[in-house]
Amino acid sequence: MVGGKQSVEAADSQTESVQQPVDGMATGRAGNTVPEPRVTSMFDSIAPVYDRMNTIMTAGMDGRWRRAAVRAANLAGGGVALDVACGTGKLTADLAAAVGPSGRVVGVDLSAGMLEEARRVYGNLSGVEFVLGNALALPAENGTFDAATIAFGLRNLASFEDGLREMARIVRSGGRVVCLELSVPRPRFLGTIYRGLFRVTAPVAGTVFRRRAAYTYLPKSLEGFPAAEEIAATMRNAGLTDVWFKRFALGAVALHVGTVR
Ligand SMILES: C[S@@+](CC[C@H](N)C(=O)[O-])C[C@H]1O[C@@H](n2cnc3c(N)ncnc32)[C@H](O)[C@@H]1O
Repeated sequence: MVGGKQSVEAADSQTESVQQPVDGMATGRAGNTVPEPRVTSMFDSIAPVYDRMNTIMTAGMDGRWRRAAVRAANLAGGGVALDVACGTGKLTADLAAAVGPSGRVVGVDLSAGMLEEARRVYGNLSGVEFVLGNALALPAENGTFDAATIAFGLRNLASFEDGLREMARIVRSGGRVVCLELSVPRPRFLGTIYRGLFRVTAPVAGTVFRRRAAYTYLPKSLEGFPAAEEIAATMRNAGLTDVWFKRFALGAVALHVGTVR
């Protein structure tokens, strides 16, 4: 079974635990400054090519990162999970495999276009449901899920802390909130090179797929995005405990995990 206790502990051993705010921490943006309707229509427009572009831009590594997110969610067979900003549903489907046929996974997204793709590919999976909704006002009761996940979605939200608090709200005590997101590599010179490369490659990839305008948004959404340590502190501010994170791809991607009190 994916997501067993042992695999989570193995992941924990390579992680950075953030129990206290980091002194002298650089301060990133508190949220996305691009208006929600623009973000939504941008994702509507790239929905048909999103998965192919993602595979190209991550050199196929995104599957491995999503599997790590599923393990971190610590789900058991028969569990219930909510995948926020589910997009085309890849993580939702991986979560469904972890909870098995007796479990239930709900994918929520604001883009009807992305949800259409998700339903086209994964609509027949048992126990999986895709729902139109906003990460900042999730269509779920308090404490009703074993875990909430968000993959490459947090940096699109108008408030990162509000998004994380909303995820914590719908998860039961002891359950996990998991965030997989782009980050900026350390040391600083690597971060500068990475941002420069992303600024060039994303629009080029966008041009190939005839979605250039949309793919200039992606590097912009990373500019000013908080460092991994800051996201961890934001999770604690959102009420989560036992916060830890793990970096992938030289820090270009970070997996953050917190537990609901
Ligand atoms: C980069 S995609 C990630 C999709 C998917 N989670 C993945 O791992 O590939 C970001 C997703 O966030 C969604 N999104 C952006 N703002 C949102 C919001 N306020 N509420 C829900 N979904 C949102 C977009 O529609 C888009 O599908």
